Amino acid sequence: MSAVLLDSQSFTPYHAVLMTNASTSALRPRNSGPEGASLFPNQHLLMIAGMKPWEITFLLDEAEQWVNFNRQTRKQTDVLKGLTQINLFFEDSTRTRMSFEIAGQRLGADVSSMAVAQSSVKKGETLIDTAQNLAAMRPDIIVVRHQESGAIQLIADVVSAYTRCAVINAGDGRHEHPTQALLDALTIRRHKGSFEGLTIAICGDILHSRVARSNFQLLMALGARVRAVAPPTLMPTDIERLGVEPYTHMDDGLKDADVVIMLRLQQERMHGAYVPSTREYYYFYGLTDARLKHAKPDVLVMHPGPMNRGVEIASSVADAVNVSAITEQVEMGVAVRMACLDVLTRQARGIEGWA
Ligand code: NCD
Repeated sequence: MSAVLLDSQSFTPYHAVLMTNASTSALRPRNSGPEGASLFPNQHLLMIAGMKPWEITFLLDEAEQWVNFNRQTRKQTDVLKGLTQINLFFEDSTRTRMSFEIAGQRLGADVSSMAVAQSSVKKGETLIDTAQNLAAMRPDIIVVRHQESGAIQLIADVVSAYTRCAVINAGDGRHEHPTQALLDALTIRRHKGSFEGLTIAICGDILHSRVARSNFQLLMALGARVRAVAPPTLMPTDIERLGVEPYTHMDDGLKDADVVIMLRLQQERMHGAYVPSTREYYYFYGLTDARLKHAKPDVLVMHPGPMNRGVEIASSVADAVNVSAITEQVEMGVAVRMACLDVLTRQARGIEGWA
């Protein structure tokens, strides 16, 4: 196991170090906080806002080892053996939910996914009651997605009163989706090496996007220049306050970009018509081969999924080998989630240096 993890050349395999009884000083990440600070001092992962750059880099470094691990035929460890992980998805999901399930299983946790549609939520149980009941079952990790911004903070507050269980935000309303931002960052770092000097254009339905909000904060924290490209109706009015550069014309927003992250039109969050038609939207904001020529020649195209081909992105771009990193993002998602599950439970597992 540790031999496998030690295989990688490009990073310090902290996890392997942990498993080979190294001294606590060896546990310090490369981009660690001040000497004497406890490592990753957060019980939960609720948002990118407020995370220090070294905390983000630490999680990315941790995730790197799991990328290699996941490429082996046998991908099972007992790092989380005996721990219980509950996945609680109040909103539809394919990638994020499967990714957290697979991540927990590969780490050896007992993973249960609550089927919200068949739960007492349908009988009128409040979110607080659901959270209290799940906390009473003494899970070690709860992964939650909810349609309301702030709902996961509420669950974390309830759970914290009962147990030292880690709560992970898998997307709350339009607020944040921290593990998506982490997996996007890991994908970008593996292609571009670092974030300093990169111009990253995030394009589409910024207004309804938790992915955009988490990415703005993470990518700027690590030194990238970030643009928000959207029609005026889908651009938040306080966009400049977020520190990103707004563009309402796609060609201008794409100019010399190193990375382009496309977003889905989130019709389920729209009340009324924000765009005249999806056809017109594609005409002005769809990422086509011709439009992509405005970006740098070695541009990387990304999309968190699910993709609407022919609405925000052309199939020829989405499927372009050497340009599109869209399926690679999904691969990085499992590694990032394994890192989060591992790191957030280290204190509970009594690992030295994590008190
Ligand atoms: C995103 C989400 O749910 O916020 N998808 C995802 O997590 N992979 C974006 C979206 O739904 O468009």
